[in-house]
Amino acid sequence: MKPSSLYRRLVREAVTPYLGRFLLAGLCMVTVAASTAALAWLMDPVVSQVFVAKRADLLWPVGLAVFATFAIKGLATYGQTLIMTRVGQTVLTDLQNRLFRHLLLMDLKFFAAHRTGALVSRLTTDINMMRLAVSTALTGLGRESLSIVLLVAVMFSKDWLLASVAFIAFPATVIPISRLGRRLRKVTANTQAQTGALMTVLEQSLAGIRLVKAYRMEAYETSRAETLTHTIRTLIVKAERVKALASPLMETMGGVAVTVVIVYGGWRVIEGATTAGAFFAFITALLSAYRPMKALSNANAAVNEGIASAERLFAVLDIAPGVQEKPAAPALTVRRGEVKFENVAFSYTDDDAEVLGGVSFTAAAGKTTALVGPSGAGKTTILNLITRFYDVNSGAIAIDGVNVADVSLASLRDAIALVSQDIVLFDDTVRANIGYGRPGATDAEVEEAARAALAHEFIMELPQGYDTVVGERGQSLSGGQRQRIAIARAILKNAPVLLLDEATSALDAETERQVQAALGRLKQGRTTLVIAHRLSTVASADQIVVVDKGRIAETGDHQALIAAGGLYAHLHSLQFAGVAAD
Ligand SMILES: Nc1ncnc2c1ncn2[C@@H]1O[C@H](COP(=O)(O)OP(=O)(O)OP(=O)(O)O)[C@@H](O)[C@H]1O
Ligand SMILES: [Mg+2]
Repeated sequence: MKPSSLYRRLVREAVTPYLGRFLLAGLCMVTVAASTAALAWLMDPVVSQVFVAKRADLLWPVGLAVFATFAIKGLATYGQTLIMTRVGQTVLTDLQNRLFRHLLLMDLKFFAAHRTGALVSRLTTDINMMRLAVSTALTGLGRESLSIVLLVAVMFSKDWLLASVAFIAFPATVIPISRLGRRLRKVTANTQAQTGALMTVLEQSLAGIRLVKAYRMEAYETSRAETLTHTIRTLIVKAERVKALASPLMETMGGVAVTVVIVYGGWRVIEGATTAGAFFAFITALLSAYRPMKALSNANAAVNEGIASAERLFAVLDIAPGVQEKPAAPALTVRRGEVKFENVAFSYTDDDAEVLGGVSFTAAAGKTTALVGPSGAGKTTILNLITRFYDVNSGAIAIDGVNVADVSLASLRDAIALVSQDIVLFDDTVRANIGYGRPGATDAEVEEAARAALAHEFIMELPQGYDTVVGERGQSLSGGQRQRIAIARAILKNAPVLLLDEATSALDAETERQVQAALGRLKQGRTTLVIAHRLSTVASADQIVVVDKGRIAETGDHQALIAAGGLYAHLHSLQFAGVAAD
């Protein structure tokens, strides 16, 4: 994005909605700048009337005028800072919330392509950079520039020749400083990228701490992190050096300007070409301009960093979700719940080979369809497409004859309860985890679902029962316990279409038999697609769809498939061979 269009966008999205308050703050800003200039201007009467002409009658009026100007300046500064901080922080909070909302709308391909650490740093570090920029820029930038303009006006009105001399030095400072700004932007962009990478490394090694320890990869992870922290250190030092260069530059240039003015101006007063009052007003204006100029150069750095952050933030905001609903998509109403695949082809990435090709089958309404097949055949992928985690490349998936791509995402996902292959629990209570898909569920409903999933007993043995917090990713529970909580969650959701991806794989044979019985009750009248490796659980399904290398190899019921002697019969015989060998 070009900086100019970025500025326009910032104005459109951040300033326009709060125009009234910006105008009020602008008024305060003008007052501050005007009183700064007035103070310089007042030096003329102070020196020429009070000190040189010694007029006692003007002593108090001039003194009080100086005091009043200071007081007004103070009040206006307070008002402007307050309004700008409020507006600025509101804009940023809005942006932060908008970004998070946007992220949750993105499809799974997006998350595969973006590192979590990088996304988190958009939401935290970048927003903080922008906060900093906003507080220096919005509160200071306009005020300081206007002050400089008015002070320069005072200088020219008092002595235009002297003012021209002083201002030869000015462009000489501005040009190198704006160069510094450009360099700074590049460095901070790089710092951000490295920080995102660091966050990802930290998060992954802490989340996978057991793996790290078991394989003794502590040194490896440490060195990965250290490489990044060192790079970040180098980049930050570089950025600070660029920033620090601005100060001595201004200092030296300012010194040259002041020296020239004192020598030349003093000579003009001695010669009688100008009055001491005018000269003092001039020098006060010049010295007063020094602080805002310095503030501007600092603000310049902060603003550049903020702009770089805004650019990255908008880049993420501008990515449209790959899976979208059509405009005014109607809600899906499930009457029978038939799920039909018609010639579906799919690949996870655009350049990848097809993971599914020509997949057609019908999961009959209210019946149980089992998907079986070797690992990597595409079974989980088939379920991912029903929920529209991804969109098909070609072909169609229909529920009750309606293409899932044509209905609203909310209604589609409301119609489906999913127990995924990797169980996800949040760091919250057991009750909250079971009730996750049904925010209004009563305690009795949660308990009923837990009983049906054979989870109630072990939950009651937990230290705080249903109020026990399960820890990050549910790590304080066993694999089988986590699985039963996930099943209870799906039971509670009470959706017409049930997708079970190896939902009972972590259970022992006896618990599995019982959970299967519970699921059997749940499956009544619902369309169920179940993926299971244990053929014993598959044999009771109404229909079996055998998936192999992304294609449907055969379909039928257990008896028919055994009789056909194909892949299913082969898998079945393998399993019995395994059992015999035990
Ligand atoms: N997010 C993904 N991005 C890219 N490729 C993927 C992704 N998920 C799965 N695949 C690939 O798609 C193919 C099918 O995967 P899928 O998860 O559907 O297999 P599966 O039949 O469920 O296997 P399993 O029984 O081991 O769970 C595999 O070759 C896998 O490598
Ligand atoms: Mg799978």
